[in-house]
Amino acid sequence: MTHEVRGVVAPAKGAKVEVTTILVPDPGPGEALVRVQACGVCHTDLHYREGGIGDDYPYLLGHEAAGVVESVGDGVTHVAPGDFVILNWRAVCGECRACRRGRPWYCFNTHNARQTMTLADGTVLSPALGIGAFAEKTLVAAGQCTKVNPAARPEVAGLLGCGVMAGLGAAINTAPVVRGDSVAVIGCGGVGDAAVFGAVLNGARTIIAVDIDSRKLEWARQFGATHVINSRETDPVEGIRALTEGNGADVVIEAIGRPETYQQAFYARDLAGTVVLVGVPTPDMRIELPLLDIFGRGGALKSSWYGDCLPERDFPVLIDLYLQGRLPLDKFVSETIALDAVEEAFAKMERGEVLRSVVTL
Ligand code: APR
Ligand code: ZN
Ligand code: ZN
Repeated sequence: MTHEVRGVVAPAKGAKVEVTTILVPDPGPGEALVRVQACGVCHTDLHYREGGIGDDYPYLLGHEAAGVVESVGDGVTHVAPGDFVILNWRAVCGECRACRRGRPWYCFNTHNARQTMTLADGTVLSPALGIGAFAEKTLVAAGQCTKVNPAARPEVAGLLGCGVMAGLGAAINTAPVVRGDSVAVIGCGGVGDAAVFGAVLNGARTIIAVDIDSRKLEWARQFGATHVINSRETDPVEGIRALTEGNGADVVIEAIGRPETYQQAFYARDLAGTVVLVGVPTPDMRIELPLLDIFGRGGALKSSWYGDCLPERDFPVLIDLYLQGRLPLDKFVSETIALDAVEEAFAKMERGEVLRSVVTL
């Protein structure tokens, strides 16, 4: 059987997204059909629309989602119809060189559905990050479904599927922050604020939020920043050093993806400290640093891909913390919107008005 549902499609490079009819097949072996309940609007969706990721139009956008499993294909045992799940883009293969070495959070061969979803005329859709969840139903590899406690609201749970997990994971998995650390986060959008809260979770002593927008700094305080620096007014490197006895922070997390802010992160950390880049740069960006400073300052320069998360390990724990009131996921949801308001949400995102707009279905 084929399911005829509505979905948000980016038809061509730079063109506005459209709500249109899409066809979703019943799940084959190893696949799951999910009734999507909520899906956050992420920068990556906009990058797809603008041609920044590939040229495989049309794209079915949306990848930060939660929903209920409607049916599963042959051989699927870890989820069943009726399960409440968060969708992930790291269904680990278990066989690649990273998985075999016991580091599955780097998996280089993650699973997606084998069958394709199409437009009504049969044109094959490319689902964003192998998910495509701005749609009433979507088809994924069963491993892309992580079962969590259904008491969590879908619009909140879905956020762990991408941006919030990236930021939290940059702090708790990649760095990782340890109790007593001083931590600075440069760029306090949804990803940066999640990094601020990750530092809280892991027991950081000092948490310095840096942004050029004072409204964002106010929000960062609500997530647990102990100090804020508006880098339009204060040099962030000097500011971070002043708040850390002149030394710099043990961990600096860059959550924008720009050379100038990466350079700030590099010089704002203490000797032997750690820089984590979780913001995603564009291909044209370059950085030049004295090699002697890279050697002489020591420590670690890391990147965080999807917060180095393992969905099966991390999502259920984080949802339980949320349900116990220990992880303020609700604060990331700036608004809930309908499927036809994604284009408007992109504009709000670009104007910096929201942490997350979430489509509810
Ligand atoms: N210095 C300090 N802060 C800055 C600067 C700057 N030069 N430029 C932008 N910012 C701030 C913005 O004011 C905003 O608060 O960085 C924040 C970026 O947040 P968002 O645009 O909301 O982006 P977010 O969803 O948090 O994602 C951040 O992580 O996953 C990646 O692709 C994503 O690269 C993006 C980054
Ligand atoms: Zn693998
Ligand atoms: Zn995303």
